Amino acid sequence: MILRSLTTDDTSLAPDWLRGRRMLPDRWRDEHTRTLIAEDGAGEPMGAATMWTSPVHPDRYSVDLVVAPDHRRAGIATALLEALAELQPEPKRFIWGAAETDPAHGFAATFGARTIQRAPLDTFQTSRAGRLRPRDDIASAAAVSRVALEQAWVDMYEWTHADWHPVGPDTRAALVEDLWDEIDPHLSSIAVSATGAIDAVLLVFIDGGQPVVAGETVSRDTPAGTRLLEGCARRTFNLLAGAGFAETLLDAHETDPHFAPLFDALGPVTRWHRIVEFRP
Ligand SMILES: CC(C)(COP(=O)(O)OP(=O)(O)OC[C@H]1O[C@@H](n2cnc3c(N)ncnc32)[C@H](O)[C@@H]1OP(=O)(O)O)[C@@H](O)C(=O)NCCC(=O)NCCS
Repeated sequence: MILRSLTTDDTSLAPDWLRGRRMLPDRWRDEHTRTLIAEDGAGEPMGAATMWTSPVHPDRYSVDLVVAPDHRRAGIATALLEALAELQPEPKRFIWGAAETDPAHGFAATFGARTIQRAPLDTFQTSRAGRLRPRDDIASAAAVSRVALEQAWVDMYEWTHADWHPVGPDTRAALVEDLWDEIDPHLSSIAVSATGAIDAVLLVFIDGGQPVVAGETVSRDTPAGTRLLEGCARRTFNLLAGAGFAETLLDAHETDPHFAPLFDALGPVTRWHRIVEFRP
């Protein structure tokens, strides 16, 4: 087996099993974005692997691997992963996620993969709004300025990721880069305190397909946080239903202390996306 950098030529000639996956040429951004291909002695590709750092989460390398179906269980993915680890300028763990039932978790398990997060994969019925209690301190996200909403989102994002996938320094710009274009502020909800501060934020992301709802309280210790999220979810789910969206996805985490307690009322969750970290 030969391991070498994946080039632009490889991506244009990619076999079917590789074409479906996003494998960009080696060093597509810098020395933290690497892609290798494994070939047999005749130059036939047998597998490929890529790793990259995220501008928002520089703590680990995201990774993806694929091996041609005819060549699986012959150690090719293991060799590719070990080679990627060797290429890291500073050694960091890999992070990867898939549906909990994905057989590739068996591969990650051989490197002692540790679960760091789970997220619901189900679609949620917006008619479930009726199970949630209303509050009178909930408003449309369109009622506050773009700057205030972006700050609330950044503050919320930072603390909800701090314990398992911390954001790097100076990531504010990356976190809000496309935010305003991706959300519907009228369907999105906020909880507003007596002093006018945003206490909780629940945004609706719409890209033409199914909506995605994401949010939490703006600080970790907001009193009555679950009740605030419940009020936001009730308003947003009601509006989504009224706008013709019978279902929505949630971008939420099992560890979100105020949102996760609502999963049962909104769902319940039957399928999980599991995120793991590992190192060869
Ligand atoms: C997951 C994948 C990359 C593994 O490639 P591979 O070359 O077959 O992996 P290896 O031969 O290096 O496997 C090493 C060990 O991992 C485990 N493993 C690999 N595939 C597994 C599977 N489908 N189910 C359970 N365990 C598995 C086994 O313990 C295996 O050792 P063994 O064959 O001696 O039992 C390959 O199945 C694939 O391309 N799947 C589709 C793409 C995908 O899911 N990619 C995400 C990978 S993180």
